[in-house]
This record gives sequence, structure tokens and C-alpha cells, in this order.
Amino acid sequence: MMAYDLVIIGTGPGGYVCAVRAAQLGMKVAVVEKNELGGTCLNVGCMPSKALLHASEMFEEAGHSFAKMGVVVPAPKLDLPSMMKFKQQGIDGNVKGVEFLMKKNKIDVIHGSGRIVSAGKVEVSADGKTQTVETRNIVIATGSDIARLKGIEIDEKRIVSSTGALSLDKVPGRLLIVGAGVIGLELGSVWQRLGAQVAVVEFLDRILPGMDGEIARQFQRLLEKQGFAFKLGSKVTSVDTSGKMLQVKVEPAAGGAAETLEADVVLVCIGRVPYTEGLGLKEAGVALDSRGRVEIDGHFATNVPGIYAIGDVVAGPMLAHKAEDEGVACAEILAGQAGHVNYDVIPGVVYTTPEVSAVGKTEEELKQEGIAYTVGKFPFTANGRSKVNQTTDGFVKVLADAKTDRVLGVHIIGIEAGEMIHEAAVLMEFGGAAEDLARTCHAHPTRSEAIKEAALAVGKRAIHM
Ligand code: FAD
Ligand code: NAI
Repeated sequence: MMAYDLVIIGTGPGGYVCAVRAAQLGMKVAVVEKNELGGTCLNVGCMPSKALLHASEMFEEAGHSFAKMGVVVPAPKLDLPSMMKFKQQGIDGNVKGVEFLMKKNKIDVIHGSGRIVSAGKVEVSADGKTQTVETRNIVIATGSDIARLKGIEIDEKRIVSSTGALSLDKVPGRLLIVGAGVIGLELGSVWQRLGAQVAVVEFLDRILPGMDGEIARQFQRLLEKQGFAFKLGSKVTSVDTSGKMLQVKVEPAAGGAAETLEADVVLVCIGRVPYTEGLGLKEAGVALDSRGRVEIDGHFATNVPGIYAIGDVVAGPMLAHKAEDEGVACAEILAGQAGHVNYDVIPGVVYTTPEVSAVGKTEEELKQEGIAYTVGKFPFTANGRSKVNQTTDGFVKVLADAKTDRVLGVHIIGIEAGEMIHEAAVLMEFGGAAEDLARTCHAHPTRSEAIKEAALAVGKRAIHM
């Protein structure tokens, strides 16, 4: 008799959600975790970053936006230790929530570092002791780790990754960010709002690669208005830590004369890499792809029978909700059901001010794939609710198939874009057309009416423009 039907290594959003779904389906489940429950997302990712984004946005609003509405408050003062406490309370609350879910679903939590001995056997080491757990199936959900820049050592004090940038003990005078991706722009926003001068060095000639180009260009302009300075088409080649200020050498990506920028703190956020260290994959014969990700088939199965993998450690966008959906689908497949993830409809959100959100194809992707499409756009300057709230930056863009009108992509830049994107996701999940979106009654006055108007604009019949 096997002790478990399923042992999952890692309790991030992929692992713990997979465990809950498997337990719901009647499996005897254990999770193995070497750090806190909840993984990157709850402890050093999504959750702490959103707590600081919320708190710093409130600080910024109290300082700059209240007075114009007739709410006169004294200039806000920053109490950074309290803000960090607020962040920690949010983390603790969510980690406790995962603990509760494990208990409620009778899932055993084994603390320690997991190593796969072979299919059906996981060795767990903690505090110098090792135990071997036998199981019918194993799911690898070990997530990802920061990507490093050659020759630049992260000390998490002056040269930080996202983890250090979530816990700085004072606001840096000058923050230099390497990488204009999601982490750079979110955490850059936090520290910019709290008073740092932020410069971002990006290798490519645009920010937020992967997002729609038109949205990214407008986003860059808005961030510049907030005080961000961008150095695009550039790379950081070294950081001299010997003096009081960091001396950062920046070169054009294509080669050319270097310049030196000064910074108090450098944040390196140039992507993340799959995390498989110490897992014993080579010995167990589990194949990795050329980028170090665990190779899986359409059913999350690795090349070794009985071993599966989900989340950041496999191919696809490194997003918590993608990991969660894979966790659910993988558990359902293990239970003999038809688990499925629709990779064409995974929303992405950047939680800045304004927010940026997207689902489906960008214009660039449609062009590259040779798909004929129509575009409907609607600016928040023409949306009543945005006008009365005086938050009119941004627009909605709906991309629909030129022949069938089926919605292929929706892109939003604007306040609450991250909440608004889901009506588009539901529509796309059901294969809906722009016409369906345009004919769905939207409550007035809401910012979501801009989505309906953009859908109307696909057929050149927006009302308020
Ligand atoms: P992880 O969450 O990385 O969890 C893996 C777990 O496995 C960890 O707890 C680790 O300790 C454990 N582990 C690894 N190896 C072993 C071992 N051998 N034995 C035992 N345990 C092991 N995504 C979003 O969708 N929205 C966001 O807003 C967002 N914000 C982010 C902000 C930051 C700063 C960062 C860094 C990431 C953010 N992400 C966000 C990405 C998100 O955190 C990841 O996509 C998500 O956590 C992946 O989930 P996972 O379950 O695959 O792995
Ligand atoms: P990213 O992939 O989003 O951005 C990295 C950026 O660094 C890219 O623009 C890239 O061109 C640039 N870059 C790479 N090498 C460089 C170099 N040597 N010099 C200068 N620029 C360089 O990665 P990021 O921001 O580190 O985030 C990692 C992952 O975490 C992402 O995949 C993202 O999905 C996830 N995440 C998601 C969030 C969300 O959903 N809101 C928030 C934060 C992270």
C-alpha cells in the first residue's frame, strides 16, 4: 500500500491548489515545502508587492489627489516600518489561509526539502533528518527563481532582486532598475511614489515586452510623467560597489560608448528561471528543455511515468493564476477526468497606476500570424465615470477577427484595468464576438462601459465618441 496517492513538491499557487483539488477528488495527498507555505506568490511575489503598491498608492493620492476633490489633509508622512508591517500582516494572513486549506482538506504538510529518488519515492530532508515518502504520483511544483546578471552580485541590500526590493529599510534616493518588465515597473512605482528617483535600463527598445505595443508606448509616456526615466536599448555591464554611491556602467545594447550612472540601490529584474535545484531530476531521469524547464506533455506528464509538473517550472507565462489552473487540471487528469487549461485566454495584469491588462493576442502577434483583424478603441477621456472621477488616462482596445468578428484580444490601460479585463476573458472563453460584447448591457456609470464602447467601435459605431 502506498502512503499517498499524490505527493506535491512545492506549495506555491500551483502546488497548494493542486493539492486541494486532488483532495476534493478523493486522493490522499501530501505537500512538501522547504520554506513557508504559499511559495513565491504569497511570500515574496504577488502578495507583498500588491500590499506595497496599495499602500504607496494611498500615500501618493493623499499627497497629490485629495486636495483637488476638496479633501484637504496635512501633507502625508511616510512611516516605512508601519508600511512594511502592513505588508507582513497581509502575507501572514494569506499563509495562514493556505494552512487552513491544508487542514480542512486533510492534506499532510511535510516540511523540508524534497528530492525525487525515483517514480513513487520522494526523500524529504529537514534539520539533518531524512524520511522517504512513498506515493502513487508526484507533482513537481517548485516554481522559479530570480535570473541573475553575470558579474553583478545580488546582496539584497544595495543590489537587490525583487525580494530585497520588497523589504528596503529606507527609501533610496536614486533607484536604478535593470529590466522594464512587470517587476521593474511595479516595484519602481512603489519606490517612486515613496520618493525615490527611478531610472530604468532596458535591453530592448520598448518597455513591457509581450504586451501590446501601442499600450506599452502610452504606458511609458504616463510613467515618464510620473517621474520615471527610461534608458531603452541599453544594458548594464557592471556595478562598482566600492564607494558610497553605486557606480553603474550602462552601454547601448548594440555596442558603443558606455556611461556611468549613480544609484543608491540597483534592482535587477530581468526575468525568472525555473527552479529545480536539489530535486534529483537528473538521477530520476526527468527531462528538461533547453531553457531548464521540466518538459511535459499536454497532460502535465514528464517523460517518467508517475511524475508530473506544473506552474513556473514548466513552459508558459510565469503567472500565479496559470499555475493554479494547471494545478486544478493536473489533479483532475490524475483522477481520470478531462482537466484542461486554455492557454489562449490567460489574462495578464500590471498593477501600476494606471493598471495595464490584457487577454489574448496583441496586434503585433496578429500581424506576425497573418490574421486579418479589426480594431475598436475607446479612450477613458470619453467615459463618463472616468470624467467625473478625473481619472481619464488610458484606453480600451478590442481586436476582433475581420471575417468572423470573434474577439481575439483585449488590451486595457487605465484605472482598474486589472478588474475590468475579466469580462473579456469570459467572452473569449466562450468564443464570443465583438458584437456580443457590444450588445451586452453594461451598468452606467462604470469604467467597464469603455469595453462595450470599444466593442462597438469594432463595427465603427461607438456612441460616445
Ligand atoms: P512558486 O510560487 O515559486 O512556489 C514554489 C514553491 O516550491 C516554493 O515555496 C519553494 O520553496 C518550493 N520548493 C522549491 N523546491 C523545493 C524542494 N526541493 N522541496 C520543497 N519545496 C521546494 N504572478 C501573478 O500572477 N500576479 C502577480 O501579481 C505576480 N506578482 C509577482 C511579483 C513578484 C515580485 C514576483 C517575483 C512574482 C510575481 N508573480 C505574479 C509570479 C508568481 O509569483 C508565480 O508565477 C507563481 O508564484 C508561480 O507559482 P508556482 O506554484 O509555480 O511556484
Ligand atoms: P520580465 O520578463 O517581465 O521582464 C524582464 C525585462 O528585463 C524584459 O523587458 C527584458 O527585455 C529585460 N532584460 C533582460 N535582460 C536584460 C539586461 N541584461 N539588461 C536590461 N534589460 C534586460 O521579468 P520580471 O519583471 O523579472 O518578472 C519575472 C516574472 O514574474 C514575469 O514573467 C512575470 O510574469 C512575473 N510577474 C508577474 C507580475 C504580474 O502578473 N503583475 C508581477 C511581477 C512579476
